[in-house]
Amino acid sequence: MKILVTGGAGFIGSHTVLTLLEEGHEVTVIDNLINSAVDSLERVEGLTGKKINFCEGDLLDYGRLRALFDQEEFDSVVHFAGLKAVGESAEEPLRYYRNNVVGTLNLLECMADAGVYSLVFSSSATVYGASENVPLIEGTPLGAINPYGRTKQQIEDILTDLSAADPRWRVAVLRYFNPVGAHESGRIGEDPKGTPNNLLPYVAQVAAGRRDKVTVFGSDYNTEDGTGVRDYIHVMDLAAGHIAALNFIANKNGIFRWNLGTGRGSSVLEVVSAFQKASGRPIPYEVGPRRSGDAAVSYADPSAALVDLGWRARRDLSQMCSDHWAWQEANPFGYTHQAGS
Ligand code: NAD
Ligand code: UD1
Repeated sequence: MKILVTGGAGFIGSHTVLTLLEEGHEVTVIDNLINSAVDSLERVEGLTGKKINFCEGDLLDYGRLRALFDQEEFDSVVHFAGLKAVGESAEEPLRYYRNNVVGTLNLLECMADAGVYSLVFSSSATVYGASENVPLIEGTPLGAINPYGRTKQQIEDILTDLSAADPRWRVAVLRYFNPVGAHESGRIGEDPKGTPNNLLPYVAQVAAGRRDKVTVFGSDYNTEDGTGVRDYIHVMDLAAGHIAALNFIANKNGIFRWNLGTGRGSSVLEVVSAFQKASGRPIPYEVGPRRSGDAAVSYADPSAALVDLGWRARRDLSQMCSDHWAWQEANPFGYTHQAGS
């Protein structure tokens, strides 16, 4: 198939582009590089020996997007492009709603006009809000608790309405839990700009000596060791989930929602210890206060994806940490960042 990948230069996008190319698909990426570098795609070309058609462009630039759909014929779209920092979304809600929601509306209009009705959308477990009714199933009532999460929930609503209005749509909504790790080559991986918000990239930078210590956000939760529990999932397993979803919607109309997680929760201290083991480096930590808005426990019931898609996550926490470390060690400052940036 010929697939348009929005946000394909980013963390999950680049790993999925690699997998799509390996599966024999033709890929065009549109990305404004607001949170990524084109180097990721160059490295994917190097790893696969295949060419990516790259369009540097913004989903908010309707004319650019329309021109792309006029120039090329796509069978399907995988839509990663979005802003994703929770704290930033609370400070700049309008920017988040515009970028994520309006960007998606532009995309959907161009798709409909071009007669492209197949879409895989990056949603997030964040749509479940603070629900601790674990394991989380797709039918759990949604209740995002921050602007970022609400952009995802609103987009899910838009896709639901669109699918109800026009039965030609074939939409897969994928709710990712906590994507981590990197391609086994260590050539591509997550490259956060500034201070990482998420645990794994932060821990990796401590292991690399870029930061002094990890702050554990609370140790008084009602969990086995008192620290927060999450469902970390290897990014290559996630990439495989996109292929499975694309195959599923190739000949099924309607909208489908799947959790992509392992079904297993790991605590902050378990992650620190697994990363220490994988890297062979000490990872000092101190316990600090809880981060506001954090749930104690979040993990998926991923059985719907297994039943419908035949997909399940295969890599464990130790492999997530060792692949993440291989990337971090080989690229201590990411793709193009300079020390200290
Ligand atoms: P990322 O920031 O690495 O990738 C997103 C990409 O989209 C970037 O390359 C960025 O430059 C691009 N982009 C953003 N706005 C754009 C726009 N208006 N036009 C064109 N390109 C634009 O993030 P990621 O971790 O790869 O996440 C991909 C998707 O998955 C996002 O939608 C994110 O919300 C969702 N998601 C991520 C996580 C996670 O923990 N990484 C969890 C759940 C859901
Ligand atoms: C965060 C986002 C969520 C997003 C998800 C995946 C918030 C409130 N939520 O969730 O919307 O979908 O990432 O991208 O930001 N932790 C520490 N020290 C750190 C960093 C994290 O102890 O320096 C803890 C957290 O309290 C949590 C766990 O580690 O218990 C995982 O945190 P994180 O990686 O930020 O993911 P989420 O909290 O699941």
